Amino acid sequence: MALFGALCFVSILSNFITVHSRPPAVHLRNMESFIRAVEHVESSNPGLSPLALVRALRRTAGHDDMMTIHFLGSSHNLSDSELLETAILNASSFSFFDKAIYHVVTDYGEERGVVLTPDGTTVALAPLLLGIECGLNAKTEDSASALCIFPLTLGRSLGLSFLSLQDFPPSQRLGPNGCWDNVDRPRSFKLIWPATLATDSVINGAMDGVVLGTDLSKLPPHQQPRPLSEVLKGYYSFVLDGQQGLDAATSHISPRRREISRTILEPLDLHSQVMQTLELVWQLEKTEWIGLDTGVTKAVEDGLQEFTHKYWDCPPVIPRCQWGAKPHRGTPIPLSLPLQFLYVHHTYEPSSPCLNFKACSRNMRSMQRFHQEDRGWSDIGYSFVVGSDGYVYEGRGWSYLGTHTRGHNHVGYGVSIIGNYTGTVPSRHAMDLVRRHLAECAIQRGGLTANFTIQGHRQVVNYTTCPGDAFFSEMRSWEHFRD
Ligand SMILES: *[C@@H]1O[C@H](CO)[C@@H](O)[C@H](O)[C@H]1NC(C)=O
Ligand SMILES: *[C@@H]1O[C@H](CO)[C@@H](O)[C@H](O)[C@H]1NC(C)=O
Ligand SMILES: *[C@@H]1O[C@H](CO)[C@@H](O)[C@H](O)[C@H]1NC(C)=O
Ligand SMILES: *[C@@H]1O[C@H](CO)[C@@H](O)[C@H](O)[C@H]1NC(C)=O
Ligand SMILES: *[C@@H]1O[C@H](CO)[C@@H](O)[C@H](O)[C@H]1NC(C)=O
Repeated sequence: MALFGALCFVSILSNFITVHSRPPAVHLRNMESFIRAVEHVESSNPGLSPLALVRALRRTAGHDDMMTIHFLGSSHNLSDSELLETAILNASSFSFFDKAIYHVVTDYGEERGVVLTPDGTTVALAPLLLGIECGLNAKTEDSASALCIFPLTLGRSLGLSFLSLQDFPPSQRLGPNGCWDNVDRPRSFKLIWPATLATDSVINGAMDGVVLGTDLSKLPPHQQPRPLSEVLKGYYSFVLDGQQGLDAATSHISPRRREISRTILEPLDLHSQVMQTLELVWQLEKTEWIGLDTGVTKAVEDGLQEFTHKYWDCPPVIPRCQWGAKPHRGTPIPLSLPLQFLYVHHTYEPSSPCLNFKACSRNMRSMQRFHQEDRGWSDIGYSFVVGSDGYVYEGRGWSYLGTHTRGHNHVGYGVSIIGNYTGTVPSRHAMDLVRRHLAECAIQRGGLTANFTIQGHRQVVNYTTCPGDAFFSEMRSWEHFRD
């Protein structure tokens, strides 16, 4: 069964067209470069509709597989496509488009067709652009074709990944994440363990495709969609400000991809959506017999449960390699799980909440330097650190003993929110990452007992006011808090 799932996927992808480009210019694999390339095509083709552009990109990247054609038509049959393709081919950006969009994982575990976004996460462009194309298409065709958003983004990747890896534990049927060679000049992205068909980047790109595609499909009929470059900039290149951080952000932006995609998709019956997507794949491939296997329903059920846990309940975590962590000194000591406590801290210094990936990463590096060099610890002390940019940053992580709460390190995780919360509270979003997402995630993965206790640092160590007066009084109302 695992084998058939894999074969099925290969044949879906077999329609790729190889387009050869000019001698490769060096293009950084980040969202900003991609947006600049899109702008270049837009400005050299005034009047170009966003839909025509995404279709031409589909053609350039060779994403005309049977399911895409089923929903969106062939990108080859469009009258404007010849001209546009020439324009795209002609643009200096072409070699970028070709390689930037085409998704593949090499034998060496390098994932291509992905870009680093300004929020520090990595996104596969193909599912993102397909979601956008479905949304734009639904708007112009005035049809129910927004129905293609889920199948072409998450539905297909999830379904095929669940089936192809049925012999593995559910936790290994999704992911993994990876590491960029250099976050300032990203060129190659290496996965941390063997790829599934639904890597973290594919899932991020698919969630973004769901969010942006749905937004575009809902524009009122008289309203023209904004150019593609502007849609992408609004979502990826926003600036947060003030103490409020994400709390003040009302628009749809990339750090909110998990909550927004959940709001859109959870009301649907995802199990039947994935099953319908798979049935369509089999029908198009003439492999309906796969669906007769009695294990399919169970594989989809288990897979979706894992998906919900990993990508919706759990917070997004920026791994050590992405914030530029120095190695742990010596051998980390494993914790004996599950733990009974979650100790909450503020960093005090840095004293301002960090509002973007660059600033939060810099804060992480400076705290690690301080803990290793001035304090002489083996690593940054905290298990996890929470930014006001919408992300959790990995410190010692789930498995290893930290240095955060004297005398209690072996019985609890130490989680700190960046900032000084003596006089003000952290953003609601940052607090929710701790009390809801991180805690829920920890219980589900066996890191914390279900009846665990939340305490402030000051409750167990009597020479500190950490996590700050304002934050501590706020915490007292949290579920799991105990005096
Ligand atoms: C595209 O064109 C080919 C040949 O001209 C035709 O057979 C096919 O049905 C067309 N597909 C669509 C989706 O219009
Ligand atoms: C391609 O680029 C060349 C040089 O920049 C230009 O002269 C030509 O008109 C372009 N062709 C198209 C179809 O855009
Ligand atoms: C932390 O906040 C308190 C109260 O606003 C202030 O008195 C203190 O100087 C701040 N400390 C730092 C390091 O910013
Ligand atoms: C929590 O539950 C465990 C068993 O799962 C039990 O041993 C422990 O005493 C409980 N702790 C508290 C504080 O209730
Ligand atoms: C608090 O600090 C004092 C003085 O260092 C010490 O004697 C006492 O045992 C501490 N209490 C707790 C609960 O740690």
